[in-house]
Amino acid sequence: MRTIHVTASREYDVCVGPGLLRECGERIAAVCGTGAAAVVTDSTVAPLYADTACASLERAGFAVSRFVFPAGEASKTLKTYDDILRFLAENRLTRADLLVALGGGVTGDMAGFAAATYLRGIRFVQLPTTLLAAVDSSVGGKTAVDLPAGKNMAGAFHQPSLVLCDTDTFSTLPGDVFRDGCAEIVKTGVLAGEELFSLLERGALADRPEEIVARCVEYKRSVVAEDEFDTGKRRLLNLGHTAGHAAELCSGYGVSHGKAVAMGLAAMARTCAARGLCPAETAERILALLEKAGLPTALPYGARELAAAAMSDKKREGDRLPLVVIQGIGRCRVETIPGEEFETWLREGGAL
Ligand code: NAD
Ligand code: GLY
Repeated sequence: MRTIHVTASREYDVCVGPGLLRECGERIAAVCGTGAAAVVTDSTVAPLYADTACASLERAGFAVSRFVFPAGEASKTLKTYDDILRFLAENRLTRADLLVALGGGVTGDMAGFAAATYLRGIRFVQLPTTLLAAVDSSVGGKTAVDLPAGKNMAGAFHQPSLVLCDTDTFSTLPGDVFRDGCAEIVKTGVLAGEELFSLLERGALADRPEEIVARCVEYKRSVVAEDEFDTGKRRLLNLGHTAGHAAELCSGYGVSHGKAVAMGLAAMARTCAARGLCPAETAERILALLEKAGLPTALPYGARELAAAAMSDKKREGDRLPLVVIQGIGRCRVETIPGEEFETWLREGGAL
């Protein structure tokens, strides 16, 4: 098992390794003490892992309740968030108690937002079960739900008290969901530098998921420690996300977050190479790695449509858009461009 310590407004450990769900109760009790624990999970994860997690919590002395919502991004709404808050109130959870988010990024984001706001904030623990949640969303304290106007538009920063990533849970991930996590891993490789990127090129993910997840979390930890509230360096983590979120919106959320990030990252790599901001070889390596992971690299939407969707993204600053520009592997920077120029960037990146 690997442990990464995160330093933010709350300090906590991220533990990565096999078998952690079976022992989550005692690990959580050691950090939070015992009391009531509300486990929030989705309809796919519940039959797979809720019994294991709940039994471990009960053995450790927690009074456990479960809230299960229909799996999928379509549930990441104010309605489900409201249902979770009502469930916490009905079960009379107090500020001494705990919410446990068991599942992927949708569960972690939405349950985390409920924990951030119920009684003005209770503690919560992340038990990520997707690769994407393990390497990205369970760490760093961003919580949210979607609004009809866009992704993650209502939310809060609320750090977990502990993250336990049981790598055994990846064995039941459908290939498509596993690939979504690969997109965030490739993104992290581009940001973190040659060591991680070339490890991925050599195919280490399939053989050593624990090491790759831990390395991604280590990189994210370093960024969050410097800029927890996303006003500076943390914005780098949005590499590929401006075009990506626009693609998600244009698809009516039919395209998953991971695939959309892959499309956005590929487009940004092409544009940066076309503009001479990075060597052509850098873009070729990024595209090759995305393709090797089975991820899409084409943006199948019109540049004008995507640019309009990007202007409704929460990252917009007035009529300007912050973009993460690739200069090389391990060399990215944020550049803020006038919104009307984004359509040209997208066209250069291969949008229709
Ligand atoms: P998800 O939570 O919807 O999980 C994808 C699917 O996999 C779901 O159907 C789920 O039920 C299923 N699943 C989960 N674990 C499983 C397992 N072990 N075995 C079998 N099936 C399993 O989606 P996701 O890709 O994990 O996360 C995407 C979400 O994360 C998006 O809403 C995105 O906005 C958010 N996100 C947040 C951050 C952040 O920093 N907070 C970062 C990146 C992404
Ligand atoms: N996933 C982006 C962030 O945590 O800032």
